[in-house]
Amino acid sequence: MSKTVLITGGTTGIGKQTAIVLGQRGWNIAFTSRNKERGLQFEKELKEMNIKATFYQLDVTDEEAVKNVIDTVIKDYGKMDCIVNNAGIAGENKLFADCSTENFRSMIETNVMGVYYGMKYAIRYYLKTGGGNIVNLASIAGLNGIPYAAQYGATKHAVVGLTKAVAVEYADKNIRVNAVAPGACDTEILQAARDAGNYDDTSLKSMHPMQRMGKPIEIAKTIAFLASDEVPFMTGAIVSADGGYNAK
Ligand code: NAI
Repeated sequence: MSKTVLITGGTTGIGKQTAIVLGQRGWNIAFTSRNKERGLQFEKELKEMNIKATFYQLDVTDEEAVKNVIDTVIKDYGKMDCIVNNAGIAGENKLFADCSTENFRSMIETNVMGVYYGMKYAIRYYLKTGGGNIVNLASIAGLNGIPYAAQYGATKHAVVGLTKAVAVEYADKNIRVNAVAPGACDTEILQAARDAGNYDDTSLKSMHPMQRMGKPIEIAKTIAFLASDEVPFMTGAIVSADGGYNAK
């Protein structure tokens, strides 16, 4: 029986590539987006690739809605083997004291609470079924201090903390919890950094020893690695996919 993954924020960037990579490896793809039109269009594209896929409309800041989507995926597919907590938003990319409290709060709601809800209801389900897998999206900003990204970095440090502690708590329950920490990848989320004027393509590339940005597909394959049965002894890991950034 094919495995089923739920990917939040699955119609763009890293989430979209993860849906394609896992779909091509035989997984059933349940993915979410806030945008119905974009979700239905991508569902159609996945089906055209002979991937079994269903779009669920979801704002991850709504706890009840996250719980309902997980319940519905389990009903529709008979089970859920993995959740990829991918939905995230960027900060204002300004110096710390110039950023708005409002933006920080909305990042906490999406990047921290959204991940927390996904983890919480996945774990409650995995405890009933005998195990499962969680992959969270952290960042180089969740492991380092990155200029103009203090508030965003704080939310990603929170994801790292949740990933490690929850992995330890449930390690003997056949539940694995890992995170990927990407370097800068050319997706919609980086536009805010460019718009604020503190980073451009040259400075974004030169942050990494590889002197380039990451590609969403490269992060997707790292997520697929953690989601797979190839690494049953990996839990609590924060896996860097960052062109060498974290090794500096
Ligand atoms: P993206 O902007 O293409 O993807 C983020 C997705 O999350 C979008 O589809 C967006 O609509 C969705 N989303 C945002 N708020 C949501 C909400 N409240 N409810 C449901 N969906 C929501 O950007 P990307 O790069 O694909 O980001 C994916 C993840 O990777 C994010 O968690 C991001 O923080 C993380 N990341 C990205 C890096 C990059 O340089 N692109 C670097 C490190 C981490």
